[in-house]
Amino acid sequence: MKLADNKATLSFSNGKPSVEMPVYSGAVGPDVIDIRKLYAQTGMFTYDPGFLSTAACQSAITYIDGDKGELLYRGYPIEQLATSCDFMETCHLLLYGELPNVEQKADFTKRVTMHTMVNEQMQFFLRGFRRDAHPMAIMTGLVGALSAFYHDSTDINNAEHRDISAVRLIAKMPTLVAMAYKYSAGQPYIYPKNDLSYSGNFLRMMFATPCEDYKVNPVLERALDRIFILHADHEQNASTSTVRLCGSSGTNPFAAIAAGVACLWGPAHGGANEACLNMLEEIQAMGGVAKVGEFMNQVKDKNSGVRLMGFGHRVYKNYDPRAKLMQETCNEVLNELGLANDPLFKLAKELERIALEDDYFVQRKLYPNVDFYSGIVQRAIGIPVKLFTGIFALARTVGWIAQLNEMIADPEYKIGRPRQLFTGSVPRNVKPLAQR
Ligand code: ACO
Repeated sequence: MKLADNKATLSFSNGKPSVEMPVYSGAVGPDVIDIRKLYAQTGMFTYDPGFLSTAACQSAITYIDGDKGELLYRGYPIEQLATSCDFMETCHLLLYGELPNVEQKADFTKRVTMHTMVNEQMQFFLRGFRRDAHPMAIMTGLVGALSAFYHDSTDINNAEHRDISAVRLIAKMPTLVAMAYKYSAGQPYIYPKNDLSYSGNFLRMMFATPCEDYKVNPVLERALDRIFILHADHEQNASTSTVRLCGSSGTNPFAAIAAGVACLWGPAHGGANEACLNMLEEIQAMGGVAKVGEFMNQVKDKNSGVRLMGFGHRVYKNYDPRAKLMQETCNEVLNELGLANDPLFKLAKELERIALEDDYFVQRKLYPNVDFYSGIVQRAIGIPVKLFTGIFALARTVGWIAQLNEMIADPEYKIGRPRQLFTGSVPRNVKPLAQR
């Protein structure tokens, strides 16, 4: 971050002296006004619920241009990463800043592979959950519990610990998600098999049983790998900011990532892919494509509380570039599985067609986001709807941990402690109970 050649001046209409604040420029994107001294100079805070105009940190990992519909990981367009790289390369890029060469890739993949098993005792911890528990409830618990199993990598001030915990988290998330699934299905857990790719191994842990051999389908393997790449990081979104805020207290990485999992669960964030598929199934049950118009009227009626799930984004005011790539993957997977005429896919396309032409959506710049198609892909692969957000958490783990480690290494990092505009009662005295 470098000082811009202009400054910002804040003036007041009540005659208070104006204040000058430095402006910084990033590599690309909007400049920021440095308000850190504002309270000391004026006794005032800024007010920005929802962080609409607030940069909470500096970061060199992911850049989004919401108007252009552009997403870059470490400068590389998501379209190039999704078509030319795999998830392991993407993880290396996000964590260490550069795409690996052949040797570095083999070394990183080996390190991740060596950590795919989880402590055997995690099974007993998992058994404490009801079989019908939501996978995200289980994941929040399991990821937090990792800190009880891996004491030797919880010191955030030790760079080696930070690196090992990053590798452990990336390696163990697929195992944990698959265990949560197998537990709900009442099937035995399948141990990781380290000669498979990251996504191939996950497919096997999900769908193999001890009774039969499991052959990984390369189209589904590639589709899942793409889902992982597209969800790997997304700048300072709600769950990433949660991880940063949680980690800013100095807590261990497993606890901070568990906080991210909890945040991701919400339907306005990672839960949207599950909500989107449920929405498509509801419209299908109402009568499918013929009912799209009726459903859209509900969406546009502010009193109905109905939203078109998988549409709209806080940052993208254009087509989410990940949605385009996901639509491509959706076509490939449905063709491979002989589901090209899948009624939900047709329904999704019809909703998208109408929404892209409708004034309500056009005026508000509401476009499909990545979740609009990812649910259809996952459902076709055989992943249960309730597990969708767990898959998202698996993929986002690398982004969370890369952002957390970046924060800890930043000399300007402080505990995150927002302030408030207090609107409650002014000081008052407690009356004895009998007089209240
Ligand atoms: N359907 C209908 N109307 C919508 C939608 C939608 N999906 N999204 C936004 N709007 C409308 C709002 O009602 C509002 O209209 P108004 O100006 O007339 O009041 C306007 O568009 C702006 O919406 P906000 O809620 O202010 O936008 P915000 O940036 O706060 O919300 C969000 C972004 C939460 C993603 C929202 O678009 C939404 O709820 N989408 C559906 C859920 C979803 O798909 N989430 C996934 C996000 S991507 C991810 O996490 C991978």
